[in-house]
Amino acid sequence: MGIQVKNINKFYGNHQVLHDVTFDCHKGETLVLLGPSGAGKSSLLRVLNLLEDASAGELSIAETYFNFKKAVAEKDGLKLRRKVGMVFQQYNLWPHKTVLENLIEAPVKVLGIDKEQAIQEAMTHLAKLQLADKADAWPLQLSGGQQQRVAIARALMMKPEVLLFDEPTAALDPEITSQIVQIIKTLSGTGITQVVVTHEVDFAKKIASHVLYMENGKIVEHGSNEAFSNPQTPQFADYLKH
Ligand SMILES: Nc1ncnc2c1ncn2[C@@H]1O[C@H](COP(=O)(O)OP(=O)(O)O)[C@@H](O)[C@H]1O
Ligand SMILES: [Mg+2]
Repeated sequence: MGIQVKNINKFYGNHQVLHDVTFDCHKGETLVLLGPSGAGKSSLLRVLNLLEDASAGELSIAETYFNFKKAVAEKDGLKLRRKVGMVFQQYNLWPHKTVLENLIEAPVKVLGIDKEQAIQEAMTHLAKLQLADKADAWPLQLSGGQQQRVAIARALMMKPEVLLFDEPTAALDPEITSQIVQIIKTLSGTGITQVVVTHEVDFAKKIASHVLYMENGKIVEHGSNEAFSNPQTPQFADYLKH
């Protein structure tokens, strides 16, 4: 079923940051949101997991429908975020918990998964991400790239249907960025739906099955990966040149 966004409008005070945003993202797609700073990419991403309310419009995601005519209840946001994970630019790991504790916290406390089972699943994710030897480390003892992989592992612990990324490589070196590319590609093979905000065109091209290009809170272009070599709008063509 994937994600359906229909006529989403969002204001901060009098300032409209999303204008009638409408698009579909099918299950298993990796949709990249591209656009200049201030285009509304992060705002849109945060609406997708209800970290923010929209002012109007409709959203279907992870088999759940929301109409923003009515304010979304906090408990519905919490419930949705068990199925729609988010990875941030700043990793947002808990500094006073070890890597392993960061991974098992939500599955044990929120999903009620048995602790031993959660530890086993955590070790499997860490091994896949080449972090098995870091289970007992503190987040701040790790490099940026390692912290970002831990943040991804932590999101995967919830077995999300949809995974959202906001500028996941913005703080990382190019070599480390290519590790994140590999992780996103591997995940896309598992059928998970991914939405990735970035302003890095090379990174976007490598991971995107689809791309949505925004300016000033509006969708300018929405297409498949082909759009990178054959943009349909002068604005996107122009953006790709920079
Ligand atoms: N919490 C907020 N309060 C008021 N304005 C905001 C807030 N967050 C973002 N904005 C504004 O909304 C617009 C879109 O921001 P954002 O979604 O962060 O864009 P992007 O991620 O594409 O850079 C910008 O003009 C920004 O200044
Ligand atoms: Mg942003």
